[in-house]
Amino acid sequence: MAEIKEFKEFVPIGENACIALGDAITKLQTLPDKCVDLIITDPPYNLGLFMKKRGTNMNKLREGHFAASGWDDLDFNEWTRQMNILFQECHRVLKKKGNLIMFMSIIKVETLINLGQENGFYYKTVGVWHKTNPLPRNMNLQFINSTETWIYMVNDGTTGTFNNEGKAIHDFVETATISNKERKFGKHPTQKPIGLLSHFIEILSNENDTVLDPFMGSGSTGVSCKKLKRKFIGIELNEKYYKLSEDRILNDI
Ligand SMILES: C[S@@+](CC[C@H](N)C(=O)[O-])C[C@H]1O[C@@H](n2cnc3c(N)ncnc32)[C@H](O)[C@@H]1O
Repeated sequence: MAEIKEFKEFVPIGENACIALGDAITKLQTLPDKCVDLIITDPPYNLGLFMKKRGTNMNKLREGHFAASGWDDLDFNEWTRQMNILFQECHRVLKKKGNLIMFMSIIKVETLINLGQENGFYYKTVGVWHKTNPLPRNMNLQFINSTETWIYMVNDGTTGTFNNEGKAIHDFVETATISNKERKFGKHPTQKPIGLLSHFIEILSNENDTVLDPFMGSGSTGVSCKKLKRKFIGIELNEKYYKLSEDRILNDI
């Protein structure tokens, strides 16, 4: 099996991480079969057009809001087509019984469970991430948006690595949103906290395993992997975020 630093379309960052600038599917297609132990990723939620159609005023959205970013604007059918190919590639590069965690908006969860099952994944559960300090946007008009969902699946098997250390682990994770420290090298509109990713990486993989994030954004999964002694493969389409990932992984933040 080729070492991470030998993957041609990827740039090594030290011995144990490599990242690529480009489209997730195109770059995944260059990776060898069964080279990954865990996939943990946070793809576009396909909410950009939905928000535009509802008349959300993009000009009023804070700078860098995902709905104004342009990377989440696919028509639903095209997004579904691309997510189907993504699952095909994830199935190919993930080892037998490898785990997958995919963050998603709750209204798109069923679509992704179906796509996963059609492509060799066993659906385990859907869980919730609760943010303890969300922005109180529209608090006098509606319930504050303080949760996101994650889908847990296993590739080509029914159970993968599950390091629960004898504890009952709930399908509900609670953390604060990212701290200023985690923004030291710049901002990403949907940056996930390192603590959240570390929670899944510790339970669903072992030291020296290889973790893939094909939509790495600001590189939070890569930073968590370095802290937890996992190898990391990351892909990002946007050059600014790719550079942010590189800086964060190199500087452990
Ligand atoms: C939801 S964000 C991920 C945020 C990440 N979890 C973090 O903590 O920073 C999704 C990312 O996918 C990237 N993206 C969108 N389409 C892509 C594609 N086709 N290939 C690779 N990356 C893509 C976007 O630029 C964005 O940074």
